[in-house]
Amino acid sequence: MKITQADFIISAVQPHQYPEDALPEIALAGRSNVGKSSLINKMIMRKNLARTSSQPGKTQQLNYYRVNDSIYFVDFPGYGYAKVSKTQREAFGQMIERYIRDRKELKLQLLIIDIRHEPSKDDQLMYNWLKHYNIPTCIVATKADKIPKGKWDKHIKMIKTTLQADPRDKVVLYSSETGQGRDELWSVITETIST
Ligand code: GTP
Ligand code: MG
Repeated sequence: MKITQADFIISAVQPHQYPEDALPEIALAGRSNVGKSSLINKMIMRKNLARTSSQPGKTQQLNYYRVNDSIYFVDFPGYGYAKVSKTQREAFGQMIERYIRDRKELKLQLLIIDIRHEPSKDDQLMYNWLKHYNIPTCIVATKADKIPKGKWDKHIKMIKTTLQADPRDKVVLYSSETGQGRDELWSVITETIST
């Protein structure tokens, strides 16, 4: 994918703020600090368009990035950050579940998992929501540069097992550091939105 344009559009707190131009949306969910914003930046070849946060758990909005006037990346707030209050956690859950359930423009959900770690309870909950609402899902195992090549397969297997992943869901090995998996992920995205 040749990137000709990439712009930050809005931090949306309420559904009425979501864009109205009906472009397909590719959303990213994952734990706080897992590398969602870095993944977007690598996909669009920008150093810092998606804000990589120094304050985890802060952002409780959906950040919309428009690419080539043809798709949006929708960056979810990270979950699982310990210092977030129970009330905030519930608000987060409601916002995300509502988006996944109601947002017709959502064409593909990327579930971002740190390849080094077993998926958390929150990851499992998120994955189960996606399956429940029948959302096309791609599991992205990121930070691949952090473990030796020889361990990739074993870790991918562990992630699939813990999530009880549907064998039809694609799993992409990724690194925002090296760009590994970038072309493959663009293929998954373009195939999904063209069908
Ligand atoms: P929140 O917005 O707080 O939920 O975090 P996030 O998921 O957007 O993570 P972010 O992209 O801000 O990355 C968190 C940290 O991980 C940063 O220090 C990144 O540089 C680092 N990081 C992200 N992806 C990779 C990767 O593929 N490899 C390595 N080595 N570091 C990464
Ligand atoms: Mg982020």
